[in-house]
Amino acid sequence: MSDDIIICNCNEIYKNTIVKVIKEKGLKTVEEVGEETGAGTVCGGCIDDIENILKEINTI
Ligand code: FES
Repeated sequence: MSDDIIICNCNEIYKNTIVKVIKEKGLKTVEEVGEETGAGTVCGGCIDDIENILKEINTI
C-alpha cells in the first residue's frame, strides 16, 4: 500500500500523515489518531483503515 493515498476522505487525511503522527507521538488507538489528525471523526468509514495502519506500525 502506497503511503500517499487518502485514508480519510471526509477530512482529506493521507496515510503518510497518519503514519507520521502515530510514530511521532506513539499513538495506540483510533481515538488518539482522530484527536491528532481529525481522521475518523466524521463518517467513521475510515476507522478500519486507521486500525490497520496502527497495527502495521505498532507491531514492528
Ligand atoms: S472517511 Fe474518515 S471520517 Fe469519513
